[in-house]
Amino acid sequence: MNKDIKNILFTKEEIHNKVKEIADKLNEDYKGEEVIFVCVLKGSLPFYADLVREVNFPVTFDMVCVSSYGASAESSGTLKIKLDSGVSYEGKNVLIIEDILDTGNTLTNLLAHFSDRNPKSMRLCCLLDKPSRRLRDIQADYKGFEIPDEFVVGYGLDYAEKYRELPYIGVLKPEIYKNN
Ligand code: PRP
Repeated sequence: MNKDIKNILFTKEEIHNKVKEIADKLNEDYKGEEVIFVCVLKGSLPFYADLVREVNFPVTFDMVCVSSYGASAESSGTLKIKLDSGVSYEGKNVLIIEDILDTGNTLTNLLAHFSDRNPKSMRLCCLLDKPSRRLRDIQADYKGFEIPDEFVVGYGLDYAEKYRELPYIGVLKPEIYKNN
């Protein structure tokens, strides 16, 4: 285990099983449909890559790169759109893939950003949900694990761009982010 991790919340195997569970629900709900999967970079990359390989309906790839946190541990509340492909969502099923729904600022602002794109459907799929921190009235249509209010990293989630490559999701030792 990485020395900066206090404890592992979800192992590689537990994450894999949860991704399959979410994919099963998507396979029921989108049977016979085509769906644009939107990867919210960068944290969602591992989840996105694993999820698209578990679904059995046609998927097209899209991505946006946004940031609410920068190098800080606190959400700024304002969304910076760093990359937007601008691909048309008109009449299409769109599924937004996120690693974590925390304060809800990012997804609320992203949905507002997409509000004029006239999709057939637009839903949210989040691996982690931290409802105790929510500042906005928003929920995921598909979610993996509900987690307590702890600073989690790994499987795409970072602190100051570190720990994304860890294959598990763990709690970061408080001394790592409190001294910065
Ligand atoms: C993280 C995460 C979500 C967002 C969730 O992104 O990937 O996009 O925060 O938090 P919220 O619900 O409080 O808005 P971050 O801005 O850290 O960028 P990253 O994906 O590149 O790590």
